[in-house]
Amino acid sequence: MEKKTISGFSKLSKRGKISWIVDNFFKDPENVMRELKSYWLDNEEHQQILDGISENSISNYVLPYSVAPNFLLNGKHYAVPMVTEESSVVAAASSAAKYWLTRGGFHARIIDTEKIGHIHFLWTGRTELLQARFDQLTEHINRDIAPICRNMNARGGGVRRIELKDFTGQMANYYQLMFYFETRDSMGANFINSVLEQAARTLDKFMLAQEDFDPSEREVDVLMSILSNYTPDCLVEAWVECPVEDLGSSSGKFTPHDLARRFCKAVRIAKIDPYRATTHNKGIFNGIDAVVIATGNDFRAIEADGHTYASRDGQYRGLSDCSITDGIFRFSLRVPIAVGTVGGLTSLHPVAKRSFELLGHPDARELMCIIAATGLAQNFAAIRSLVTTGIQKGHMRMHLGNILNQLKATPVEKEAAIEYFDTETVSFQKVREFIENLRTRKIRVSPDNPDPAWS
Ligand code: MEV
Repeated sequence: MEKKTISGFSKLSKRGKISWIVDNFFKDPENVMRELKSYWLDNEEHQQILDGISENSISNYVLPYSVAPNFLLNGKHYAVPMVTEESSVVAAASSAAKYWLTRGGFHARIIDTEKIGHIHFLWTGRTELLQARFDQLTEHINRDIAPICRNMNARGGGVRRIELKDFTGQMANYYQLMFYFETRDSMGANFINSVLEQAARTLDKFMLAQEDFDPSEREVDVLMSILSNYTPDCLVEAWVECPVEDLGSSSGKFTPHDLARRFCKAVRIAKIDPYRATTHNKGIFNGIDAVVIATGNDFRAIEADGHTYASRDGQYRGLSDCSITDGIFRFSLRVPIAVGTVGGLTSLHPVAKRSFELLGHPDARELMCIIAATGLAQNFAAIRSLVTTGIQKGHMRMHLGNILNQLKATPVEKEAAIEYFDTETVSFQKVREFIENLRTRKIRVSPDNPDPAWS
C-alpha cells in the first residue's frame, strides 16, 4: 500500500529516507534508488558536509561547475567560477570578458558596505517621550550587545548607528529601531540577527524600567527582529569604457557608432519599460547568481536586494547605464551585493572553497567587484547580441548540444547535426527529425566526412 505521508521522516537514516521515498512515489523503486545513490560522492568527508547543509537530504542535485576565463578587472586577471543551469550564460560571460580584455578590461569600485537590520515593535504612548529617551536606550543597547560585537569590532565591524523610525502614520503604534552595520568579510546575517534579538530584549527591559512613564507606556510589543536583505548602501559599481571606434563592427552590418547608439537605446528602454527592465535585469542576474552560487553565497538575498534597488524610485528599472560622451562609450552597473568570504558555506562547501582559491582568495569587497563585473559582462553580451544578430542563433547552438544529449546522439550524429544546424533554425522537433532520418539512413553521413547530405 502506497503511503504519501509520514511522521518522523527526518529521524530516518539516509537509506531509510530513500527507501520510503522510492517505495511510495516511484514506479521503479530499485532503479530510482540506484540512481539517487549514484549521485552520492565517493569522498565520504565531502558527502557528510553536503548532508549537513540542508535537512532531509537523500542525494545530491548536480549542476555544471563552469569557468569564464579572461576577466581583466581592476588590472588583475581572473578565471571566474560560475554555476548555472542555463546554456549560453557562461559562453556569453566568457565572450564579453575576452572582448573587454583588449579594451582596458572591467573596472569596479565599492561605494559602501553598509548592512541593515530592524526591530519592528508596537508601542502605545507619546512619541516625544520615546524620542527623549532614545540616546539613553541606545547606550543600554550598546552595553548589552558588546559581548556579541567583540569579535566583529576587532575585525573593524560592528554597529555603526541606530535610528528610531516612526511609522505610526502608516500603522497604529508601529515603530522601528533601525540598525546600520559593518560586517567586514562576513555576509553578517547571523551576527546581525543575534545583535537585534539581544537589542530587542534590552528594549523590553529598558521600557519596563521607565518609572515616570504611564504603566501602558512601559509595555512594548516586539513583533520581530530581523536583518533586511535590502542593502542600498552595500553598493558596488562596475564599468567598461573605450572610444566608440574601438568597439569594432558587429556582424559586418553595424559600424561601431551604430552599435554604440543601438546599445545605449536598449539600455534606455530598460529604464523606461518595466517589462523590458525585468528581462534586462534577469540577464544581469544570470551572471551575478552564477558566481554567487559558485562561491557559496545566498543568491535569493542578492536577487531580492537587486530587484528592490531596481525599484528604488518607485518604478522598476534596468540596473545598468550607458553613455556616449566625447566619443567614449561607457557601460556601467550599480548594484547592491551583500556577500561574505568567511562563514556560512564559503568555508564549508568543498567546491565553493575551490572557487575562492581560483579567485585568489578575495575579501568581500573584491568579491563584490568580481560579481558585479560578471553581471555587467552578461548584460553586455546579451544586449550586444540583441541589438545586432539576436540571441537565438548563439543560444540555440548551445541548446542543440543539450537536445542531442537528450536524444542520446552518437559523436558522429552530433557532428553531423552541428554542421547541419549551423545554417538552420534549431528546434527540438527538427533535431529529433534530423537524428531519426540519420538513423533510418535518410541522410548519409560518414565518419570521415561528417557533412550530411539529404538523400
Ligand atoms: C536570457 O536568460 C537573458 C536575456 O533574455 C537577457 C536580456 O534579454 O537582456 C538574453
